[in-house]
Amino acid sequence: MSNAMWGGRFTDKPDAVLEAINASIDFDRRFYAQDIAGSKAHVAMLAATGIVSQEDAAKITKGLDQVLREIESGKFTFSRALEDIHMNVESRLAEIVGPAAGRLHTARSRNDQVATDFRLFVRDAVDALGVSLLKLQQALVEKAHAHAGSVMPGFTHLQSAQPVTFGHHLMAYVEMVGRDRGRLADARKRLNECPLGAAALAGTSFPIDREMTAKALGFDRPTANSLDSVADRDFALETLSAASICAGHLSRFAEEIVLWSTPQFGFVTLSDRFSTGSSIMPQKRNPDAAELVRGKAGRVVGALVGLLTVMKGLPLAYSKDMQEDKEGLFDALDTLDLCVAATTGMVDDMVPNLPAMKKSAGAGYATATDLADWLVRTLGMPFREAHHVTGRIVAKASEAKVPLEKLPLAAMQEVEPRITDAVFAVLGVSNSVKSRTSYGGAAPSNVRAQAARWRKRLAKE
Ligand code: ARG
Repeated sequence: MSNAMWGGRFTDKPDAVLEAINASIDFDRRFYAQDIAGSKAHVAMLAATGIVSQEDAAKITKGLDQVLREIESGKFTFSRALEDIHMNVESRLAEIVGPAAGRLHTARSRNDQVATDFRLFVRDAVDALGVSLLKLQQALVEKAHAHAGSVMPGFTHLQSAQPVTFGHHLMAYVEMVGRDRGRLADARKRLNECPLGAAALAGTSFPIDREMTAKALGFDRPTANSLDSVADRDFALETLSAASICAGHLSRFAEEIVLWSTPQFGFVTLSDRFSTGSSIMPQKRNPDAAELVRGKAGRVVGALVGLLTVMKGLPLAYSKDMQEDKEGLFDALDTLDLCVAATTGMVDDMVPNLPAMKKSAGAGYATATDLADWLVRTLGMPFREAHHVTGRIVAKASEAKVPLEKLPLAAMQEVEPRITDAVFAVLGVSNSVKSRTSYGGAAPSNVRAQAARWRKRLAKE
């Protein structure tokens, strides 16, 4: 038997391999709820505009509700022969309500249908991700507030640079995640237009009301061009781009957690809940969750690159290639959601080793810039000269194998005779961070205020 939905022109049935490559039901069943919501909005509009009778519309709506219940209770039998979620739902509807079901697809195509369903799905997923990211920010803010004054080394090139605080470091991620949320919110704004009614590609000759369906499905407005409506997936690409950037942020943080939790760094201890052991080495506490956040970020980026590549050569309008938009996006958003949850859990449970961080903050002459700044401020030296003088003093300290604050004043005066013992006030790491009071700087007072501002803001969101 040829296909019940489009078999009019066919006599033979599809090859098993065609069915295997063509069917999307194994994955697009995931947006059954969006598909049914779209169909209900469509049939309500068809009735309101007199395109189908109120009676048929009522039957169809009731039937769709039954299909929804069957799917949700696990009683629905999905069929690969019916290709996708759209045809599975419609075929079951026909069994339930009879020939009236055939009127549902008036003035509609699977092309505008799938574009609508997918936008609805992405919109829901973006909203859910926004909530998870907000929780991550809250976890970071609380830790940061508690550790606004906990000195730790700041790095550039992963070499000791200048002391910062643990809170300052965590607040950097609060800012990043804040922008991630902003990017997702922007993507949501652009995706929130309804393609339903674009039909196959050219619109329809039926007097449909696209404003009505758009409104019923919570879209801001209908899409303005029927070809564009069914041919583009930029909303998915934009969401995947935002997701990839976010995954990149989480991955960088995860990399830091991996480093920090080594015995060599010893900056943080992850809880047992977020560490794993080794089957051979009894001493081990491995940061698997952090490693996996780092690793899984690759999958999210992979989904973005995959879909960019699928889309880039397609002529307008719909091509079946576009069915490949779904699995990567589902996987990427599930993966990111899991990574956000794992990161939140690690932040909540992570215990910083404050003495180790502080000790390390002073290593590598991390207060050399403070010495140079002191020369500028106190002796009126141009910064370039102060940099040079400080470099010579650091070289002396390094030769003597002592930290800057342990180098005798006399040794410093050999390089610059005008240095007095007042200089020692800026050479300790705590004084160094305290002095970083410029807006956005690492001073504990800044960090505390910044964390408090975010805490308030997040409580309102
Ligand atoms: N399963 C298809 C997809 O996901 C639905 C659209 C099919 N349209 C078509 N003209 N064959 O893209």
